[in-house]
Amino acid sequence: MTVSPQAYHPAQKILHWVVVLGILAQWSLNEPIVRVIEAMQTGGTPVDGDMTMALVHVSIGSAIFLSVLARLVLRMRHGVPDHALGTPEMQAQIATWMHRALYATLIAMVITGGMTWNGVAPLGDLHFYFNILLFALALAHAAAALFNQFVRKDGTLRRMM
Ligand code: HEM
Ligand code: HEM
Repeated sequence: MTVSPQAYHPAQKILHWVVVLGILAQWSLNEPIVRVIEAMQTGGTPVDGDMTMALVHVSIGSAIFLSVLARLVLRMRHGVPDHALGTPEMQAQIATWMHRALYATLIAMVITGGMTWNGVAPLGDLHFYFNILLFALALAHAAAALFNQFVRKDGTLRRMM
């Protein structure tokens, strides 16, 4: 039986917030890359500024991908702490599946974005739908963290700070 650590590793905490910041940046910096892809797919020429911002989107997306991989390795080597004391079993299950869904959606975003950018397959629509899913999951996840911290007062948010 593996023993769960008492707390998240500092690297897990840092990478969690690096990914959150990265996602916020992606949400604000996506219009130029949409125009660039449209130009590429219709034989047009992307304007310079758009191309630079598109490369920023790809770079931040790649940094998110590396951070997600590092987090998965950390989860395997260091583990994650058990759910806060007194968390009902059903809620603990939902949180576990929510975390898995967040990881899976982030990876799906990188794959669909990467395949579209590299001209392997035009998966821009899928990238968009996964982004909606990511938004919904992140919203529910953040709401749950805030609810646990401030209503149930079980210190959940502090675990990630
Ligand atoms: C978690 C990371 C990412 C997030 C949250 C994200 C988010 C977004 C959003 C919101 C759009 C606009 C979708 C639309 O309005 O149609 C977009 C477009 C795009 N992203 Fe990302 N992205 C991420 C990672 C990546 C990566 C790693 C790449 C490439 C290596 C990439 C390539 C693209 C491309 C090519 C488009 C244009 C798609 C099209 O219009 O057909 N993205 N992204
Ligand atoms: C925006 C995108 C977000 C993503 C993709 C995300 C992803 C994750 C994942 C996968 C975990 C599981 C632990 C791990 O493997 O490191 C986690 C834990 C956690 N997240 Fe987030 N998160 C996001 C935003 C937020 C926000 C905005 C908050 C705070 C309001 C937050 C608070 C927490 C807390 C407190 C934990 C620890 C929960 C526990 O272990 O009981 N997250 N997050």
